[in-house]
Amino acid sequence: MRIGVLGTGRMADALGTQWARAGHDLFIGGRSRPKAQALAARIGHGARAGSLREAAGFGEVALLAVAYEGVEAALEAAGAAEGTL
Ligand SMILES: NC(=O)c1ccc[n+]([C@@H]2O[C@H](COP(=O)([O-])OP(=O)(O)OC[C@H]3O[C@@H](n4cnc5c(N)ncnc54)[C@H](OP(=O)(O)O)[C@@H]3O)[C@@H](O)[C@H]2O)c1
Repeated sequence: MRIGVLGTGRMADALGTQWARAGHDLFIGGRSRPKAQALAARIGHGARAGSLREAAGFGEVALLAVAYEGVEAALEAAGAAEGTL
């Protein structure tokens, strides 16, 4: 399954690592591209990285894994207002 991971913190790392090991196709999206790239490299298994919007568009499903205070901004950056999510 294609999974878009929105966030680059502990939840994104823990769940993303397990899902990639289980054979799922991951795209890590973050507000910081370098952080997203670093996490994707650590996860391996072909995980890709980019923006929150790219991650939202990539997945058949999306994991929203950002700090509570960042949820609204992350959803906006991901394009939720335009019906992407
Ligand atoms: N850790 C757990 O055991 C656990 C368990 C259950 C639920 N949760 C929930 O899961 C969510 C993520 O937790 P976590 O432990 O992964 O947190 P974390 O390690 O602190 O990571 C937080 C993530 O949120 C991002 N973020 C913060 N503000 C943002 C904004 N305005 N726009 C976009 N991204 C933003 C951070 O980006 P930057 O790195 O760029 O700052 C980072 O990627 C939280 O809501 C937490 O309550 C966590």
